Parts: sequence; structure tokens; C-alpha cells
Amino acid sequence: MTTPEISSSAIEKIHVNLADRSYMIHVGAGLIGNAGHSIAPILKQPKTIIVTDKNVAEHWLSPLQSSLADHDIFSETIIMEPGEQTKCFAQLEILVSKLLNFKIERDTIIIALGGGVIGDLTGMAAAITLRGIDFIQIPTTLLAQVDSSVGGKTGINTSHGKNLAGAFHQPKLVLADTNSLQTLPLRELKAGYAELVKYGLIGDADFFEWLEENGASVLAGHAENQQYAILKSCQAKADIVANDEFERGQRALLNFGHTFGHAFEAETGYCDKLLHGEAVAIGSVMALEASERLGLCPKGRADRLRDHFTATDINYKLKNIAQNDWKASVLLDHMRLDKKVTNSTMVFILAHDIGDAFVTSDIKESDILAILNDSLEEIGGF
Ligand SMILES: NC(=O)c1ccc[n+]([C@@H]2O[C@H](COP(=O)([O-])OP(=O)(O)OC[C@H]3O[C@@H](n4cnc5c(N)ncnc54)[C@H](O)[C@@H]3O)[C@@H](O)[C@H]2O)c1
Ligand SMILES: [Zn+2]
Repeated sequence: MTTPEISSSAIEKIHVNLADRSYMIHVGAGLIGNAGHSIAPILKQPKTIIVTDKNVAEHWLSPLQSSLADHDIFSETIIMEPGEQTKCFAQLEILVSKLLNFKIERDTIIIALGGGVIGDLTGMAAAITLRGIDFIQIPTTLLAQVDSSVGGKTGINTSHGKNLAGAFHQPKLVLADTNSLQTLPLRELKAGYAELVKYGLIGDADFFEWLEENGASVLAGHAENQQYAILKSCQAKADIVANDEFERGQRALLNFGHTFGHAFEAETGYCDKLLHGEAVAIGSVMALEASERLGLCPKGRADRLRDHFTATDINYKLKNIAQNDWKASVLLDHMRLDKKVTNSTMVFILAHDIGDAFVTSDIKESDILAILNDSLEEIGGF
């Protein structure tokens, strides 16, 4: 087992305001090693079940178990296989059975220790087991810390597509430990970074500017800057979720870059060849490019984002991931199947400027097709 360097810092907290479903997000270094302290006050019985995956267990299970034991909390553990394929009906059934084998009760709180896959699967198991039990998120990827662990969307993939079965089920607590990022592969860290940039793009130009200055240090493991970036992202997400918990309006802004991105993920088959965040980085540049071309946003904004991704060594070129046989019309078909389509109209998140995104369905498919075609041919600087 590898033991990462354990540092600790002042923990910062954010309140997610959702009436009786409100909860706290703690962000800082050392939270896993001290989890028993944060978790003990919200447990209804001194017993919990940890759900994690093999990769995460290798580094972070033992510090979590020890901290729980130090606070006289008894814990059982369920270790799942890592990877997106774990988010499926078969694994959900296995997980629910294991929870029931442990004689889980309505008052037992389960802990999701891992990335978005473990968080989404465990959250869904919590939503349906005994008609709903509480759960805690301990996100260990940057993507999970800034996005999936907050907001209560849980779910699994189906043969019809990604995340098509799920439930809204808010966690009782989120502990985002920046130490856990030390063991995360750089490729995963960069994929999460694209989601972090998204918060600057959709609603906070100052944060985007801060990332232009400090983004490289966030990726290089600067703990205080990681903490700041995660806090800003979680606060942005918490504000959006508090106003639109069930995605009837503004929560869709969080899908900036995602309609394009999902098309690339669908075409690659949702596999390791293209991580979600890698697709979002390319999709975000395309969303700004589309906004510029349609005269909705001043020129130069897409270039500014390209420059930032170049500075942080993040790919934004569709051409670099596309196969020779990719066709714009097929990508457009994937976009039509995206679940953000309502009344048969495609919904896009575009921007009036960096930090000023908006939701629209008033876009012609021919414009999107032209942008996809140009990107595949790498015309116009893509
Ligand atoms: N619920 C939501 O609102 C929401 C939002 C965005 C994404 N998601 C979902 O999140 C999932 C992607 O999450 P992800 O990017 O965290 O992927 P992931 O959970 O698959 O984790 C990525 C990889 O890193 C490993 N890992 C995780 N933490 C580690 C650590 N600290 N050290 C070493 N290895 C570690 C995992 O085992 C895995 O191999 C997708 O299924 C996506 O649909 C959900
Ligand atoms: Zn995303």
C-alpha cells in the first residue's frame, strides 16, 4: 500500500441550502484522516458502511477506517471494481445485496469513498435501499470534488445511454480532501480541471482570470490553490443547485460544453480513450466558438480559452481525438439523442462572454453542423 504524504490545513466549509435536505461541504487537506471527527455528529448509530473501489481503497481506505475507529464508529467495507462499467444495473444489484447482507437499517448512513462512479452508484443504492437511506460523499477525484459529489444527482448507465436511470438524492455531508488528489493520475486530474474551468466560464469571469494565473499550480498539486479552486467551484454549484434542485432551468448551465462533449464520448463509446472531462474541454471551446460565430459573444473569447488550455497542457482540439471516419452528421445525431433535448428541440448552453453563459434552444442545426465540420477539418484554428 502506498501512503501519501498527509498534510492538514484550515478546513473551509460551504452550506448547501436546500431546506430539510441542506448539508455542509468541507474542503481542505487531511479530511479523510480526520473523517471520524466530521462524521460522528451526523451519524444516528455508531455504525457505517464504506463503499469504495479498488484503486481508491489502496490509498485511502485505511486512513478512513482508522479515523472512524478512533471515534468508536464501527465500519464495514464494500469494494467495487473501478471504472465506468461499474455504474450499471448488475453492479447496483450486487451493491444493494451486499448492503442488505450487512443488515443495514433505515438509520445506517453509508459512505461513498471514491470518484464520480462510486459516488453516483452509491448514491443511487442509498436512494433505493429500504426506500432511501442517508449517505455521505468523500470524493477523491477532482471531478467528483468540484461536480459530482454536490447536488444530489445519482445514477447508473443503461443500454440506452449514460446516466439514464437515477434519482435525486442529496448527501448528508461532503468531505473533499485535497490530499486525495496526490494519488490521482495526472490524466484524471486534468479531466477534472476542465469542469473547474467551466464554473469560471458560466458565471465567474474573475475566477477564470484567477485560473489563468494559478491553474498550472492547481494541477501541480499546490494544496492551498486546490482548496481555493474547489471551494469556488462548490460554492458556484451549491448556489445553482439551491435555486434549481431538479434541473428545471438554470441548473442546465452546468452542462456548458457538455452537449458537444457527450457527442464525442458517445462516438468513442464512453471508454478510457476519451475521459468525460477531456470531452468537456473540447466541448467548452466549441461552445464559445459557436457563441462567437453566431454573433452572441465578442470575438477572441474562444482563443482566450484555447490559450488557457494550452498553458495548462489540456487538449482542446477535436482533431486530436477524432478518428478519420468521424462525420459531423453522426456527431449531430448523438447531440439530438442527448437527454438535454426537450420537445424535440436541442438545448445549448452558449455564452455572451466568459463568465456569462445562458441556456437557449434557438440555434439552427446547420450552424452546429458547420462548426463540427470545421473542427473535424481543423479549419479556423481548432
Ligand atoms: N452526479 C453528478 O452530478 C455527476 C456530475 C459529473 C460527473 N458524474 C459522473 O462521474 C463519473 C466520473 O467520475 P470520475 O471522473 O471521478 O471517475 P472515476 O470515479 O471512474 O475515477 C477515475 C479513476 O480514478 C481512480 N481514483 C479515484 N480517486 C483516486 C485517488 N484519489 N487516487 C488514485 N486513483 C483514484 C478510480 O478508481 C478510477 O479508476 C461519470 O460516471 C459521470 O457520469 C456525475
Ligand atoms: Zn461533466
